[in-house]
Amino acid sequence: MKKGKDPGRAARNRGRIEWQLRERVKELDALHRAARMLQSHGRPAGEALGKLLKALTKAWQHPQLAMMRIAYGGRKYSSPGFRRTRWRQQASFAVRGVGRGSVETCYRRRPSGPGRSFLPEEAKLLGSLARLLQAFFVRHKAEQRLLRAKTGLQRTVARRTSQLRSLNESLRAEISERRRNERKIRRYQARLKLLALQLAMFEEQERREIAADLHDHIGQTLMMAKLNLSQLRAAARDAGLASSLEEIGGLLDQAINYTRNLTFEVIPPVLYELGLLPAIEWLSEHFREKHGLEVSVRGEPPAVILDRKLQFVLYMAVRELLFNVVKHAAAGRAQIAVTGRGQSFSITVADDGRGFDAEAAERRASATRGYGLFGIREKLHYFSGNLKIESAAGRGSRITMEVPAGAEGQR
Ligand SMILES: Nc1ncnc2c1ncn2[C@@H]1O[C@H](COP(=O)(O)OP(=O)(O)OP(=O)(O)O)[C@@H](O)[C@H]1O
Ligand SMILES: [Mg+2]
Repeated sequence: MKKGKDPGRAARNRGRIEWQLRERVKELDALHRAARMLQSHGRPAGEALGKLLKALTKAWQHPQLAMMRIAYGGRKYSSPGFRRTRWRQQASFAVRGVGRGSVETCYRRRPSGPGRSFLPEEAKLLGSLARLLQAFFVRHKAEQRLLRAKTGLQRTVARRTSQLRSLNESLRAEISERRRNERKIRRYQARLKLLALQLAMFEEQERREIAADLHDHIGQTLMMAKLNLSQLRAAARDAGLASSLEEIGGLLDQAINYTRNLTFEVIPPVLYELGLLPAIEWLSEHFREKHGLEVSVRGEPPAVILDRKLQFVLYMAVRELLFNVVKHAAAGRAQIAVTGRGQSFSITVADDGRGFDAEAAERRASATRGYGLFGIREKLHYFSGNLKIESAAGRGSRITMEVPAGAEGQR
């Protein structure tokens, strides 16, 4: 009998092809489902795999006998009632850094009917499933790592933020502490200026009182004594007595002169009677006589009448600067220039002596030594004035005091 002519065989062939087609459709459907499910994001691996396995058993030739299991990363996920049997098929996959995994299908018992338990297409299906699972686990691992990195990053950011915040707070505290200290220093500086001036004023008062005492009491008493002595001398008949009285008269003259000089040294009355410039001229004469320093004075009297306190401060400052020349400069001469330029009034004391490093001198100046220049500067500040020192070793010194005209001091 010819092949094509047997209608029973043709029907069997068609039946087998249709069955095969149905099987392939089932397999494709299973793969499609598996791909969709494994691609859904954000699901825990265990739950997704349990669902998947239940659905996949339907793809096998004998779905009622099929049981499936996935083993991966030390864990196992299975369809309900899974156990290992002799009728078994398996495919493996590997994920770098984790290890190997596998997917397997077992039949509960030997399937009835002819042929092999598992079809070659089913082996391919299992291989495809293994590759899908591998891709899923690789992605899942990457997601986990990303999540860990993200949380780590968030933690680092939070830590850095709190560090920065506390740094910021301590900086703010430091700034306000510094501001407080600056305010304190400014307050102390203001008090210092005031104290320097009060000291000067106290000194002026003392000096005036001492000068008045010297003049009114000692000076006058000596003058009276001299007068009485002159009368005695005129009346004296005895030559010996007369010469003794004359001798005493000479001593009294010395004492009177000494007292007058002392009075001037304490404070020259000329400062109050004639003003600052004549007092400075008297001072230069006094330094020439007493200390052998040639002092030249040039300038004009201040155009405005100076405040009495300021006048005293400037006079005493010139005196201190001349004393400095005598003490430190080893100079032959000094020049004083008094100028009343426009809105300011200034006095410069210059010498041709050894000079000095003004900044170093100020650094050296401590509570115990070198009050002279410091005191002048503080007092001038009180009158809104300033002190300028121009000097260098071996090049003499020029020290200028400048005050605004009509300065009466801060209140
Ligand atoms: N004309 C000058 N020539 C050279 N050096 C000077 C002159 N004036 C001041 N100095 C230097 O500057 C320093 C400071 O002077 P300042 O008048 O402040 O203090 P002092 O004269 O040493 O002490 P004090 O004035 O308190 O008695 C001096 O010790 C000295 O070294
Ligand atoms: Mg001095």
